[in-house]
Amino acid sequence: MQIAVLKDSEFQQFQTWLHHTAGINLSPAKKALVAGRLSKRLKHHNLNSYGDYFRLISDKAEAAELQVALDLLTTNETHFFREPKHFDFLRQHVLPKALPGKTFRVWCAASSSGEEPYSIAMTLAEGLPGGSLGTSWEIVASDISTRVLEKARSAHYTMARANSIPKPLLAKYCLKGIGAQEGTFVITPGLCSRVQFMQINLNAALPKIGEFDMIFLRNVMIYFDMDTKRQVVARMMPLLKPEGLFFVSHSESLNGITDSLKLITPSIYRKI
Ligand SMILES: C[S@@+](CC[C@H](N)C(=O)[O-])C[C@H]1O[C@@H](n2cnc3c(N)ncnc32)[C@H](O)[C@@H]1O
Repeated sequence: MQIAVLKDSEFQQFQTWLHHTAGINLSPAKKALVAGRLSKRLKHHNLNSYGDYFRLISDKAEAAELQVALDLLTTNETHFFREPKHFDFLRQHVLPKALPGKTFRVWCAASSSGEEPYSIAMTLAEGLPGGSLGTSWEIVASDISTRVLEKARSAHYTMARANSIPKPLLAKYCLKGIGAQEGTFVITPGLCSRVQFMQINLNAALPKIGEFDMIFLRNVMIYFDMDTKRQVVARMMPLLKPEGLFFVSHSESLNGITDSLKLITPSIYRKI
C-alpha cells in the first residue's frame, strides 16, 4: 500500500473542523504532526488518502471514529504538581480560610489524564480545615478527550510520574503496585472518590455542574485564538462563585479577555 501524503487542502479541512469543534487552532507548522498522528487510522481503515479519512469522520454514523480523531489531535501533556506555586498559594492563602460547614468545590476544566485534579485533591485533603465540623470538598474534572478521561479514571500511573509528588503525599495518597503491577502506582480510593470525571467541550454549551469556589484552566488556552478564549471564559464565568478564584498557566494571560476577573498574583484571578 502507498504511503498517503497530507495535501494542503486536506490539512485545511482538518484545521477548519478542529477549530469549529474544539476551538483548537492548528498552525501550518502542525501539518506533519497531524499527518503523523492520523496515519495509523488510515492504515486501520485501509484508506488511501487523508481526504478519505476526513470523509469518514464527517459521516454521522462514525461518531466513535470522530472521537478517536479528536483524541489524536489534542495535546495532553501534563504532570503531577505542575506549576507548584499554585499549590503553595492554595496551602498558604486559600484553604486555611475555607468556611467550615460548606462544600468547597473545584472545577479542573482541562484535566487531561488526571495528574492535575489528583494534585489538587491531595492539596485539599491536606490543607482544608479538618475534623467533624471540617470543610467537605469535591472536584469536577473534565476534558474533551475520552481517551485521557479513561486513563484519569483508572488513576493508574507509571512510577516515573511520581517524581513530582511530594514524598509525604506519595506515601499517604498513592499505593505502590506489586507483582504484575510492579513499577506503577494507583491513587487511593478515598481520594479518587472525591474526583468526578466527565467529558466537557469548553467550546460548546456547558452542562449544569453547579458553582465552584475555584476553577483551573491551565495550559489549554494556548491552543485557542483570542475570540475563542473570550467565548470560553465568558461561558465559564457564571459557574464561578463571587470572589471565586480562576487559575491559568504562568505562560497564559486573561488580558483583554474578560472584565469579570481581577489579577491578584501572576496567573491567579479573583471574580469581581
Ligand atoms: C496540555 S493539556 C493541559 C492539562 C492540564 N490542565 C495541565 O495544565 O497540565 C490540554 C488539555 O486540554 C484539552 N482540551 C483541548 N481543547 C479542549 C476543549 N475545547 N474542551 C475541553 N478540553 C480541551 C486537551 O484534550 C488536553 O487534555
